[in-house]
Order: sequence, then C-alpha cells, then structure tokens
Amino acid sequence: MMEFLVYYLLGTFGLLIIYEIIKCCRGKECIGRFLNCGAVTLLVILIDSLRSVVELIVSHLTPYFIPQDVNPLWKKYGNWAVVTGCTDGIGKHYALELAQKNINIVLISRNIDKLKNVAEEIEKYGVKTKIIVADLSKGTEVYQHIEDELKDIPVGILVNNVGGQYDYPMPLCEVTLAKAWEIINLNVVTVTTLTRMLLPAMVARGQGAIVNISSGSEAQPLPLMTVYAATKAYTRSFTYAIREEYANKGIYVQHVSPLFVSTKLNSFSQRLVDGNILVPNAATYAKSAVYLLGRVSNTTGYWIHGIQYFFITLAPQWMRIMIGHRMNKDFRNEHFRNNKVTAQ
Ligand SMILES: NC(=O)c1ccc[n+]([C@@H]2O[C@H](COP(=O)([O-])OP(=O)(O)OC[C@H]3O[C@@H](n4cnc5c(N)ncnc54)[C@H](OP(=O)(O)O)[C@@H]3O)[C@@H](O)[C@H]2O)c1
Repeated sequence: MMEFLVYYLLGTFGLLIIYEIIKCCRGKECIGRFLNCGAVTLLVILIDSLRSVVELIVSHLTPYFIPQDVNPLWKKYGNWAVVTGCTDGIGKHYALELAQKNINIVLISRNIDKLKNVAEEIEKYGVKTKIIVADLSKGTEVYQHIEDELKDIPVGILVNNVGGQYDYPMPLCEVTLAKAWEIINLNVVTVTTLTRMLLPAMVARGQGAIVNISSGSEAQPLPLMTVYAATKAYTRSFTYAIREEYANKGIYVQHVSPLFVSTKLNSFSQRLVDGNILVPNAATYAKSAVYLLGRVSNTTGYWIHGIQYFFITLAPQWMRIMIGHRMNKDFRNEHFRNNKVTAQ
C-alpha cells in the first residue's frame, strides 16, 4: 500500500513537471515556472529519499520487533532445507543455523569429505541430513542427478547460496572463458535450475521459501568484477520477478544482498579475510541473515551492511561505478603486492 502511494505520488509529480515545462515553453513567465519545476523536482527527490528511508526501516528494524518463533520456520515452510555451497563460508553457517531451528538439511557441494564433516556437525543438533555431491560449475549436466536424489524429499526452503568469483579483480580480457562460464554456471544456472526444479512441489503444497544469496554488487555494474556483478544483477531481477509471479501461492521469495563477509571468496585481500566491524565473519553474518528469513523480502542480511547499502545507493549510479572501480583497483594492487607480482 505504502509502495503504491509512493509510486502514485512520484508519477503525479513527474507529470506535473512535464506539464510545467510545456507550459513554460509557451508562456511568458519562464523564470517563475522554472522555479516551480525546481521546487517540484526537489520534492520528488525528497520523496524518493524518504521512500529509501522507509524501506530501510522496514527491512532492517521491523524484523527485530516481530517476536521470534511465533511461527517457526519449519512450520511456515516445511522441515527440509536445501543449501548449496554449504561446506564453507556463508552457506555452511546457513545450514548450521537452520539445523538449530529444527530443520533437516540437504547439503549440496562438490567435496565429499567436507560434506561429511559438515553433515556430522549438523546432526549434533538432532536433525537429519542428506548429502549430494555435485560440481555446480559444470552446468546443466549435474542436475538430473540432483533431481533424482531430491525426488522423495519435501523441500520447504531452498537456499541458493553457491557462488563463484574471480580469483582477484581483473579486466574482462584477463578473465579466461572457463572462469567466466564457471561463474555464470554457479551464480546464474544453479539459481535458475534449482528454483525451477523445486518450486512446483512448493506451489502444490502451498508453502515454501526460496532464499537467493545475491551480493551488494547487484546494485550497479562493478568494473574489474564485471561478470560477477552482472550475474548478481541477474539474481536480483530473477528473484524479484518470481516473487511477484508466486506471491499468491504461499511462496516466500527472499533476496539477500550481502556486502563483504570474511570468507575464502575474498582471499585476494588480507583486509577482507581479517574482517572488521564492516566485514563480519560467516557465522555472525549467517546468524543475522537466518534471523531475517521469513521476516523481510529484501535485505543485506546484516544490520551494518543495511546501513552501508542505504548510503551507497543514495549516490548516483555513475558515481558508484567510479568508486567501485577504484575500490577494485585497490584490491587488485593489494593482491599483486601480497603475491609479489607487478600489476599490468
Ligand atoms: N563473502 C562475501 O563477501 C560475499 C559478498 C556478497 C555475496 N556473497 C555471496 O555469498 C555466497 C556464498 O559466498 P561465500 O563467501 O560463503 O563463498 P565461499 O566461502 O567461497 O564458499 C563457497 C561454497 O560454495 C562451494 N562451491 C564452490 N564451488 C563449487 C562448485 N563448483 N560446486 C559445488 N560447490 C561449490 C564451496 O565448496 P568448497 O568448500 O569445496 O570450496 C563452498 O562450500 C555466494 O553466492 C557469494 O556470491 C559473498
């Protein structure tokens, strides 16, 4: 309702501006009319910023006022979750957090030994696990096996977490085609295929949750991480669209856009690996993100990332692209310095 009202107001003011400009071009009181346009434009900017503030508050503060476990996740969505890329980083801690909420976990990742270790850790919480070994960078060939393995499991929550990134920031001509395909397969093909695979049964049951782990890099193109950011823009678009398509089928679709988290994905920068108040470790991050599951539709997953995201997205896109480029040049130089190689 609030969204509708804001769009309605923005639309009305947009038309007003056009109307004032047309009138101004015809009439004599040009200066006065231009001043009117200026005031209206300012109002539009203010309303748009206000909308961002409202969104920020709704996304990041209201969840904390909703009492926990009024309706536990397993009851709302079902007691089996699938987590992809669950043997390390954010995915591993999502799986551990969900297990603590009495949810059985299907673990999908590429390394059998790591999968067994995580399964053992998870089972300490008294839930069941199922392991599926799959190299998700291989593209479509791996999904028949996954579908066969999942056919008897009523999956209530799908956490599309697996993701790939460059080894360090680089311009496109330095990215091998194999690496580009790996990233596209992990970040785009997996989200699309698993969602398409598991959604029909959720719709038939009238309940289910799809959680798509995107990245703050979806907010604008990101030079030196071009392919990665573009895949995350796909995730955002895909997530927002299916949410709308299945809004009245009992399906909850969440878009999670983390900023930096200290995991091996960022091993090109020691500063990111070490972490700090802005760069939480995966356990802290996932605890917060799982707390927000079912509470908000769009989130960065972590309060301080929410504040950062809010301020970042206030800046115009061209400025964010420029700053992102500088930041990545900095990380690239750090990587070359640490590896005693000269940047080209
Ligand atoms: N970390 C950040 O700063 C950050 C920021 C924004 C968004 N994200 C997103 O968050 C998600 C998780 O990232 P992360 O930082 O937790 O990454 P991570 O620490 O590198 O963990 C990635 C997980 O995916 C698994 N995996 C990697 N390649 C695979 C493949 N080919 N087939 C199957 N499994 C594979 C890894 O398995 P192994 O254990 O075998 O390596 C690991 O379990 C990604 O979608 C990423 O884009 C991360």
